[in-house]
Amino acid sequence: MKIRIFVGTGGVGKTSVTAASALGAAMGGRKSLVLTIDPALRLRTALGMDGEIPQQRIDLASARSKGELWGALLDVPSAMDRMVRSDVSEAKARAILEHPIYRLMLTSLAGMNELVAVERISHAIADGFETLFIDTAPSRHAFEFLDKPEFFVELVTFPLVKLVGRTFGLWNRGVSGDAGSSNLYTKVQQLVGAALAGQVLEFFSMFQPVAEGYAKRAKNTMKTLRDSRITSFRIVSSPGRARQDGNYFFTELTKRKFTVDDLIVNRLWPELSLDPSPGASPATLSLVDWYNSVCSQQRADLGKARTAWMGKGSRFVELPELAQDIDGVQALARIAEHLPNS
Ligand SMILES: Nc1ncnc2c1ncn2[C@@H]1O[C@H](COP(=O)(O)OP(=O)(O)OP(=O)(O)O)[C@@H](O)[C@H]1O
Ligand SMILES: [Mg+2]
Repeated sequence: MKIRIFVGTGGVGKTSVTAASALGAAMGGRKSLVLTIDPALRLRTALGMDGEIPQQRIDLASARSKGELWGALLDVPSAMDRMVRSDVSEAKARAILEHPIYRLMLTSLAGMNELVAVERISHAIADGFETLFIDTAPSRHAFEFLDKPEFFVELVTFPLVKLVGRTFGLWNRGVSGDAGSSNLYTKVQQLVGAALAGQVLEFFSMFQPVAEGYAKRAKNTMKTLRDSRITSFRIVSSPGRARQDGNYFFTELTKRKFTVDDLIVNRLWPELSLDPSPGASPATLSLVDWYNSVCSQQRADLGKARTAWMGKGSRFVELPELAQDIDGVQALARIAEHLPNS
């Protein structure tokens, strides 16, 4: 199994390049999944997916592929549902899924996406895909899906949190835990009101095994994401930003002990031999000048980015600007032609 994770700043073509890479792997005969953990869901257009079905097989008839390509959106409620059901009995799972605090948590907890992303990755690993390509949110949030789960793992193993999970049920049934925790629960009730405190603490104690299951899987998944035999990160950028983005993402990722292999510079204007005929209008001449000057600026930027990338990741990849949007298998195939094997 191989996992490739694509990061980069906003709008540089992460989603398109991730989907094209997955298509390339499918064309090479593999069963590939491209999963977006970006709530913006641009992947739907890139792959030409049907409506909002969270995971579906993409029709590759036009690309004559030997393998399979699947597209998946990060669907928080269904990933959470699967998570709850995998950790507790059916009756307990139902009690959690119907609990008002659970529903509140699903709809109003900011940052749920980043916490669930790592769980969703663990599902994709369990589902037996040979290659997994992950499209992430723009850089502002790029590292949250990596950092938050590890913070959560620490939180779940924090002694006080464990204590509440284990002792509240006893206290609530009047069996009482130790005197210290009984005092604590009585105080919490006085502070926030008995009904609300009861609900929150009751939910918390029911959810404890799920949170521990999540933490265990998140720990394993993060280990897989740090295993360079399985996972590597790819930075997607544009010609003008490639040097800066290459440095920034490489530093942030290696600091977190992840492996980076490619810097992919997308949207490079092709150098055309534009040779206006004698007598061409001044407007045509200035357009040609402008095109050529943008091209030579891009080549200069590219040269600097390539030099700065030496000794960092292993490959430096250039992708052309297409004369169309990336909106379906055919356009993706044109990008995939320029990508090295995954
Ligand atoms: N090589 C290319 N040639 C032509 N158009 C491209 C190319 N790469 C990307 N695009 C277009 O640029 C736009 C942004 O691409 P995409 O959604 O893949 O970027 P992104 O980095 O994922 O954006 P966001 O940060 O918003 O998630 C899309 O309209 C896409 O069709
Ligand atoms: Mg995107």
